[in-house]
Amino acid sequence: MREVVPLATFPPVLALRGISKRFGGVQALVDVELQLRAGEVVALAGDNGAGKSTLIKVISGVAPADRGIIEWEGGLVQIKQPHDAHALGIATVYQDLAMCDNLDIVGNLFLGREIDRVGVLDEVEMERQARELMHTLSMRIPDVRMPVAALSAGQRQAVSIAHSLMGSPKVLLLDEPTAALGVEQTSHLFDLIEQIRDRGMAILLISHNMGDIKAVADRVAVLRLGRNNGLFDVNTTPQEQVISSITGAADNAKTHRPTGDDEVWP
Ligand SMILES: Nc1ncnc2c1ncn2[C@@H]1O[C@H](COP(=O)(O)OP(=O)(O)OP(=O)(O)O)[C@@H](O)[C@H]1O
Ligand SMILES: [Mg+2]
Repeated sequence: MREVVPLATFPPVLALRGISKRFGGVQALVDVELQLRAGEVVALAGDNGAGKSTLIKVISGVAPADRGIIEWEGGLVQIKQPHDAHALGIATVYQDLAMCDNLDIVGNLFLGREIDRVGVLDEVEMERQARELMHTLSMRIPDVRMPVAALSAGQRQAVSIAHSLMGSPKVLLLDEPTAALGVEQTSHLFDLIEQIRDRGMAILLISHNMGDIKAVADRVAVLRLGRNNGLFDVNTTPQEQVISSITGAADNAKTHRPTGDDEVWP
């Protein structure tokens, strides 16, 4: 059991207020609010098309918001491109896990951040740091010189997360990280997420899976048709209540996604 620290004593590291995003005729997000605090895991849940990936793209600068405010550690910031998110300390692991199969683990970890000494790559130092990171994160990877093509889905996921942690970010966004993983790999991933959380990071984890949410999240934010549809404490909220918020069984009449023609969705 974790010690419960009153959330109000920490300012959120990231706060979204009134975030809206439209793609052509589809209003993907409407007035969305979300807060992430250091040392907590928030699950982002919702049905297919609810706007979860879009919200991650807004935060990571891949698809900037049309309207709304983003605050970082209490101050107003602009995230207009991925570089802005990186510079603040926001790391994202996308579902497709883009990696260079022809490189080994060290090569992938340091991709874009290679260490050199007088113009020559310092392979020895990179290997040392890669080993240290694997050890700190208790990753079960036999050899950092293995090509990533030889890794299992769970090991690839771990290397991808380790790569995103290289710049010491404060917020980690994970889009459906368990989708391709088996039961044991999922449990290793959750151990890793808990370790990262306990080192003070804020983690936003997209998941469809109530079991995953219960296992690793502190709070769950539900999106439905692009709007907030509930924010729950995972430990004290009955699972059925979260599920009805996801499916819309608990909807009020106002929850709908406006389209270009202001059509009201059922
Ligand atoms: N680039 C885009 N162009 C047009 N419409 C888009 C684009 N990206 C997302 N959408 C639309 O925005 C809405 C929200 O999509 P999003 O991918 O955020 O949903 P999601 O909650 O991640 O769903 P899933 O669980 O299926 O991954 C959907 O109606 C989707 O079709
Ligand atoms: Mg998605």
